[in-house]
Amino acid sequence: MKSNTGKSDGTVNKRIVFAGLMLFYLVMLLILALYVANLRRKTFTVRGSMHDIGNPGITLEGERSKQWHEGNKDPFDCGMEYDFKVINGGKRRLYNWRAEIVFSKDFDIDSCWNGEFNKVDHTLVVRPSEENEGVDRGKEGTFGLVMMTFEDESAEEYRLSYRLDVHLTQSPLFWLLLAGMGLTLAVFAADKVNEAKYNKLKAKQDEIRGILQESFETFAHIIDAKDPYTRGHSLRVAHYAKLIAGEMGYSEDEQERVYWIGMLHDIGKIGVTDLILQKPGKLDNEEYSLIQTHVDVGGRILKDFKALNGIAEGAKYHHERWDGKGYSTHRMGRDIPEIARIICVADSFDAMTSPRVYRKALSVEYATMELKSCAGTQFDPDIVPVMLKLIEQGLVPVEVGE
Ligand SMILES: [Fe+2]
Repeated sequence: MKSNTGKSDGTVNKRIVFAGLMLFYLVMLLILALYVANLRRKTFTVRGSMHDIGNPGITLEGERSKQWHEGNKDPFDCGMEYDFKVINGGKRRLYNWRAEIVFSKDFDIDSCWNGEFNKVDHTLVVRPSEENEGVDRGKEGTFGLVMMTFEDESAEEYRLSYRLDVHLTQSPLFWLLLAGMGLTLAVFAADKVNEAKYNKLKAKQDEIRGILQESFETFAHIIDAKDPYTRGHSLRVAHYAKLIAGEMGYSEDEQERVYWIGMLHDIGKIGVTDLILQKPGKLDNEEYSLIQTHVDVGGRILKDFKALNGIAEGAKYHHERWDGKGYSTHRMGRDIPEIARIICVADSFDAMTSPRVYRKALSVEYATMELKSCAGTQFDPDIVPVMLKLIEQGLVPVEVGE
């Protein structure tokens, strides 16, 4: 449940991050589109003197290419031909331009080309002809006229207004935002694919774990079926051993391993005759010796079970005592594998608190006292307090497998 909640929180967080990023990109794109639309509607103006030639950027230049006298037209007896050019030294194509050129004196328009010309006082107002309407970046738009005027006439100042041909796709920011959106989508899609793969793998893993769980429980039932007075014993020992391992700081996977090992700790009883296991009354020494062989039999049965580390040790050493007086190897202290020392405490507690053929179940209080008094002799003195804590917390005993 814990991991599912974490996973679901993670998925929600990823969705929030994805939605946030996409919203950010969309808002930025909208702002950029509005900015570009505004730029397209805007009319730019540049002013200057006709005598300043070679201005950078967008400018207007003109020169008087011809001049002649006609002598009989007073006062405009002088003919002049002017050639102008709109120079686009900017970064974008300009269009819809209009030029106003102020002359020093009055004049008449005789003829003109590449535009529509009007005169307001001393000012020549020019609108380009259709084919001359736009000027690409780095290019020039030319126009000109022949005018009748005074001999000392000259063009003085100009005012050039225009619009810029800007598009959203010309902005590097537009492509950056699109790339960002694409990358976000790709990462999210890849994550979705990975998540689907993970879920499939997890489902398969859960299925295998379920099969393992049921297999182990079935084995435990087979073991416990040998002795009707120990029904549910293997499952309870497994449960207690897992709780002890949890208190000792084992990881969840390790606790599960301890649980499975606990279930098969008495597997050696399969090799002990039912006549002894099910004998009413106390066992004699020979029968007791036969019962004791279950630890070596269990160890042998499980010796090739390499996938579950410690399972053979759990079966073989769980009747060893801390003081070395157990069976069958008489190992002592920390020479006894920890898994066996854990199972020993769990096993003894359940043995005491379960009914036997020759006695009723002993009380939890009695079992608690026994654990305390045998800590350091029969039991690992570090594991007993862990078991006592579990008892105090009410986690032990439980009715498992009844
Ligand atoms: Fe046992």
